[in-house]
Amino acid sequence: MYINFWYPMATTEEVGEQPIKVRCLDQDFVVFRGGDGRAKCLSNTCVHRGGSLAGGKLHGDLIACSYHGWQFTGEGECRKIPSLGKDAKIPGRTRIDAYPVEERHGIVFAFLGDLPEEERPPIIPVPEAGQEGWRPTLVHYDIKGNYERSIENGIDPAHNEYVHDTHGFSGEDEDYSVGELRDVPTEWGHGFWHTFQAPPLPPQLRKFREKPGDLEVGTGHHGPNQVWTYIHASPEYYFHQYLFERPIDEEHIHIYLLCMRNCMLDPDQDELMNERNLYVAEQDVVIIEALHPVLTPPTNTKEFMTPSDKCIVMYRDRLREWDAKGWRIDMDEVRRNAKKVAYTIPSPARREQKGWVVDAVPMIGAGQAAAKLKATN
Ligand code: FES
Ligand SMILES: [Fe+2]
Repeated sequence: MYINFWYPMATTEEVGEQPIKVRCLDQDFVVFRGGDGRAKCLSNTCVHRGGSLAGGKLHGDLIACSYHGWQFTGEGECRKIPSLGKDAKIPGRTRIDAYPVEERHGIVFAFLGDLPEEERPPIIPVPEAGQEGWRPTLVHYDIKGNYERSIENGIDPAHNEYVHDTHGFSGEDEDYSVGELRDVPTEWGHGFWHTFQAPPLPPQLRKFREKPGDLEVGTGHHGPNQVWTYIHASPEYYFHQYLFERPIDEEHIHIYLLCMRNCMLDPDQDELMNERNLYVAEQDVVIIEALHPVLTPPTNTKEFMTPSDKCIVMYRDRLREWDAKGWRIDMDEVRRNAKKVAYTIPSPARREQKGWVVDAVPMIGAGQAAAKLKATN
């Protein structure tokens, strides 16, 4: 799992008057709305004695720990230590990691890492958002599996025929093969367009595809945890989907699926859209939860790749690039110390201020990443 990317932490509705605890990258965070109405995200571990901030209360802009009442701003600064008395000076080391937050498409995203603003990989752009003639829906769901496996499933052209009876013929098509993949390189990922034969749509959606025919689909990943999938059901009817994945830990994911459509614009059609998206998602969930091993293998030689797996190989190559930047969390070390060390994801303020109470998660350094890879070959 990687620091220095944006992760979806909650829906807009979930972040209200009560602080909530959100797990991501195997760490706990507290997400709450400050007095200014803006969502905030802090490491959940209180620097005093390890209390859970999410169990505390909001006092206007400040969140108070439930254990001894220390109060912190949404920027992680401690403003009050009740046991020291009213006008006591607050030591600077009491600061807690706070993360940049963006709220878009009904989702609260946090940037979990320490990069300065100008170097941060962006959230995947959604050009249809707010445009006339497009309507969004959002569903979210859990998977008991690894997020890299799930992203790979999202960008896999060859599973549709077998996994989705909505898009393929369940292996009944004797002449099936994966056609040409037209590459779409992007700054933070790689994707492709391809054309495949799909069955007619069910009666409620029949007008979008009456007979079996060509379906134009583009898909690709953006960073380690986001996927775009553009389904062009006909030359006029488009469904542009964006998957934002939150790795709760290495074996659990919470997924937010934003679907933009330029047809069925009546809000009454949202339910049908959501039903269909969840029906397709559930078919993927069954596959991902049964994969062995749970995590992506450390080298591609431990699975047999074919040309239709090209995008998956390119995704893994990108992950190795982020390993080389030192952005991969050393989960072996985190697990080894899990019961006795509170870790946190380093926030941007760590670049300016030294002497933090809670340790930043151990990272696999650039040289170490190469050695680890070699050792597993
Ligand atoms: S542990 Fe949070 S105030 Fe003491
Ligand atoms: Fe799928």
